[in-house]
Amino acid sequence: MEKKRLYIETYGCQMNFSDSEIVVSVLKDEYNVIEQPKEADLILINTCSIRDNAEQRVLKRLSELNTLKRKKPRLRIGLIGCMAERMKDELFKTGKVDLVVGPDAYRDLPAILSEESDFPMNVLLSEIETYDDIEPVRYDSNGVSAFISIMRGCNNFCAYCVVPYTRGRERSRNPETIIAEAEKLFADGYREVTLLGQNVNSFHYQGVTFADLMEAVARVNPLLRVRFATSHPKDLSDVLLEVMARYPNICKSIHLPAQSGSDKMLKLMNRKYTRQWYLDRIAQIRNYMPDCSISTDIIAGFSNETDADHADTLSLMREVGFDYAFMFKYSLREGTAAHRNLEDNVPEAVKTQRLEEIIALQQELSLKSNRADVGKEFEVLIEGASKRSPDNFYGRNSQNKVIVFPKGSSRVGEYVRVLVKRCTSATLLG
Ligand code: SAH
Ligand code: SF4
Ligand code: F3S
Repeated sequence: MEKKRLYIETYGCQMNFSDSEIVVSVLKDEYNVIEQPKEADLILINTCSIRDNAEQRVLKRLSELNTLKRKKPRLRIGLIGCMAERMKDELFKTGKVDLVVGPDAYRDLPAILSEESDFPMNVLLSEIETYDDIEPVRYDSNGVSAFISIMRGCNNFCAYCVVPYTRGRERSRNPETIIAEAEKLFADGYREVTLLGQNVNSFHYQGVTFADLMEAVARVNPLLRVRFATSHPKDLSDVLLEVMARYPNICKSIHLPAQSGSDKMLKLMNRKYTRQWYLDRIAQIRNYMPDCSISTDIIAGFSNETDADHADTLSLMREVGFDYAFMFKYSLREGTAAHRNLEDNVPEAVKTQRLEEIIALQQELSLKSNRADVGKEFEVLIEGASKRSPDNFYGRNSQNKVIVFPKGSSRVGEYVRVLVKRCTSATLLG
């Protein structure tokens, strides 16, 4: 039987990109992945609900893709991922989707797509699903670095956040299957794995902690780099830091979302730590790993944020000196605790102004961090040819900084030592 053609487009976080590889795997007996939507029999959009603009972008894209149906009436378009979970059958009212499948129901896709299916939706959340027996199809991979999903869901219920509702309860994957996946990737030529979870360091499975798991994956091979994302400050243990410091192939880079520098805001956000706790964690990271890079997420203009709270965020950023950051304007999400209990009362113009100040400060900090690397030599794992300058390769150092350098005689997937000569606030040039 000739296979049908699947085009899949992914939005949102790394978990979603990892999930798309699972979706392609689930459908691989019936569908081949293609790179252009025009030829597709099935289009899947794996979606994100984290902020309103993320959803608006998808709805616009959905309209665009629907125009393809004029030429190809049998084309089916499915919405999967977090928007599917959040909006459920409401999505059918747009008249633009043929099926809706939430993040825990991907095993059901073949049945939903079959001729016999009488109901094109499954948005059930699961307390156990980890897809641990499904081998992801790395359909969009550079052959060098890969994601391994190690836990799903989130129990933290930060007041602003939709993830606990779209992804359900926290559950960890059997570590044996994680290590087997890492071994297989290494044997296939991969040289870097990123262990993924919404709250990755709260991984625990029958007595196996996240630190234990990191150590086990680091032992797969000294040439296999190990990264992880994203960790919650409350769960960043000294034991983990000690393991990270001990293994050269565990990358010296931690993404530790702070969200705000004000204790009042952290409490309203239900982040479960204080500014001082956060700063103590930073001190401990530097204590174990003086060369570790630290990045963060910041939200500007959450409910009741005053100029003084905003100033606390700026001062935290300066005090830590983040190497880079993802920065967002607060977006009210229906169904969250903030939606129930707080008012979205910071005017849009003030949110914009604060975000701009945060971005400007981070640019200064990133440039400072990169300038400090000029003149240093780093081990870089080559990921591919630079898009802007095809005579150059790009790769990352242990600190997760991108370095662009002349190709020479090296090859993708190799480790090379690169001397940094210049930099911008975004890139090191070697
Ligand atoms: N689980 C991860 C991150 C999840 S979402 C963690 O807790 O670190 C990624 C980032 O989006 C968050 O860290 C936060 O900064 C931002 N974010 C989440 N909800 C948001 C909202 N309603 N408005 C604006 N930014 C939000
Ligand atoms: Fe959202 Fe907080 Fe969970 Fe991160 S830890 S996914 S911000 S609820
Ligand atoms: Fe978005 Fe869902 Fe990830 S809301 S950030 S795709 S978990």
